[in-house]
Amino acid sequence: MEITGDETRAAWAIASRKYEDEYADLLEEARTVELLPAEVAALGELVAGADVVHPMSGHGLDDLALARLGARSVLGLDYSDAALTSAQRRADALGLPCRYTQAVMPESGLDSGCADLVYTGKGALIWVADLPEFFAEVHRLLRPGGSFYVYEAHPLVPLWAWDEDEIRVRRDRGYFEPSHVNDSFPANGAVERQHTLSQIVMACRRAGFEIEHLEEHPEPFWRSGGVSAAAWDGRVPNTFSLLARRT
Ligand SMILES: C[S@@+](CC[C@H](N)C(=O)[O-])C[C@H]1O[C@@H](n2cnc3c(N)ncnc32)[C@H](O)[C@@H]1O
Repeated sequence: MEITGDETRAAWAIASRKYEDEYADLLEEARTVELLPAEVAALGELVAGADVVHPMSGHGLDDLALARLGARSVLGLDYSDAALTSAQRRADALGLPCRYTQAVMPESGLDSGCADLVYTGKGALIWVADLPEFFAEVHRLLRPGGSFYVYEAHPLVPLWAWDEDEIRVRRDRGYFEPSHVNDSFPANGAVERQHTLSQIVMACRRAGFEIEHLEEHPEPFWRSGGVSAAAWDGRVPNTFSLLARRT
């Protein structure tokens, strides 16, 4: 069966109901949520006073953390109504300067040069079919000298089985495959795009960015409840972060 972008969007329309169903829990989490220490260290002074755009903003908790770090404004973009609505409710409840608008990336519909910082990740690049198109849009959104930051699942992650006794590579996945179908919660049935680390770095450079920081991390950004996979024990990469400046 050919899987289209429509099926991925439909999978997200269902998965994002979770953000509404768990509104109260997420609001409690939102009261104290912070970016990861590696994110805070890499972003340094870039957040304070910045107009931030966040493509694939999902539940929006990172937007609240960015606002608390001093962002002047945070604009979350997502194609899921449920995600946008619940994120906006939380931001309003907490009185933080985050707004949400619907967009189907890579077409944000925003003005050129509207952002000092484009922040994304934690399950964003896997929905990008065409990296050059996506980075071109990020580049267009940024003012000259603006920054792009992504903290994302490492491209090796689709290969890790969740066995608890030993790290194993899934036999049905390959690092150089273009995509696979998600077979776990929350976006079961969605097509996850695969980009190797070199494809991500080179597409970013070719779009007109200077890479300022690239790091691979052992910690996953998300752990499925009740699972403690050996692949998360610190021996293999599970996330990476990249900071690039628009030239
Ligand atoms: C795994 S969530 C991660 C987002 C965020 N980092 C979070 O932790 O909630 C991915 C989000 O991307 C959105 N998404 C996927 N493809 C998209 C596209 N082409 N344009 C806009 N949003 C998209 C989905 O609706 C979903 O809310």
